[in-house]
Amino acid sequence: MTTLSIFLVLVVLCHTTIASVFSILNNCSYTVWVGAVPGGGQRLNSYQTWSLYVPSGTSGGRIWPRTNCTFDGSGQGRCETGDCNGSLRCQSYGNPPNTLAEYTLNQFGNLDFFDISLMDGFNVPTVFKPNSVGCSRGISCASDIKGECPVELQAPGGCNNPCTVFKTDGYCCLSGGCRPTYLSKFFKERCPHAYSYPMDDQNSTFTCPGGTNYDVVFCP
Ligand SMILES: *[C@@H]1O[C@H](CO)[C@@H](O)[C@H](O)[C@H]1NC(C)=O
Ligand SMILES: *[C@@H]1O[C@H](CO)[C@@H](O)[C@H](O)[C@H]1NC(C)=O
Ligand SMILES: *[C@@H]1O[C@H](CO)[C@@H](O)[C@H](O)[C@H]1NC(C)=O
Ligand SMILES: *[C@@H]1O[C@H](CO)[C@@H](O)[C@H](O)[C@H]1NC(C)=O
Repeated sequence: MTTLSIFLVLVVLCHTTIASVFSILNNCSYTVWVGAVPGGGQRLNSYQTWSLYVPSGTSGGRIWPRTNCTFDGSGQGRCETGDCNGSLRCQSYGNPPNTLAEYTLNQFGNLDFFDISLMDGFNVPTVFKPNSVGCSRGISCASDIKGECPVELQAPGGCNNPCTVFKTDGYCCLSGGCRPTYLSKFFKERCPHAYSYPMDDQNSTFTCPGGTNYDVVFCP
């Protein structure tokens, strides 16, 4: 090969291989069907792992657990929580209640931004943390939110965010100014590093250098 063709091969390789790897572990005693946009979805029996490769530059990425699903051979069906339009391989986000691991890769200042959000409620305890050298601060939301859920927020398989249930300005912050509520504090007290309502403190967003790989663990 000429020097030029070697150079071109390297350019192509680099462009197609730059990605973050999300290692998703189902550490629960029950089956979880992961939903991922981008990525689709995957059934994970207890202690199974799925390695998801996500291209650098992806924004609005989301990984969430789905529970009590049934799918037919063509991948159509439904889940009690986190259902994405009845598909095993999600092309759209899931239905509440579901615990969200959200991320945006390699944006401003070549940084990744990630968070756990309870804005769509909670179904499965989740850890979302970097596993690369050089970045170590991750997020744990592992309290028994489902078990302690206030009556008015209880839903089959999970605990709804008050915005989902009541759809009012005070819970959804539709017109700007918004404060924590008795019900949003229920989530914040149990998962202080996760978003509990739309205008929650900005330090619920975490950063790592672009190119970092991540672990998502259900039932840590
Ligand atoms: C949901 O699924 C139906 C068919 O199963 C499809 O026609 C529709 O476009 C899907 N909607 C979205 C938002 O993906
Ligand atoms: C699945 O549904 C059954 C029956 O309603 C329930 O007992 C069980 O807790 C559900 N599993 C999960 C993980 O939500
Ligand atoms: C960051 O989070 C902590 C814990 O919830 C809170 O006490 C603190 O006020 C927050 N800081 C800012 C700047 O929002
Ligand atoms: C999996 O769950 C067990 C407890 O059931 C816990 O001891 C262990 O640390 C968990 N593993 C991970 C990777 O979180």
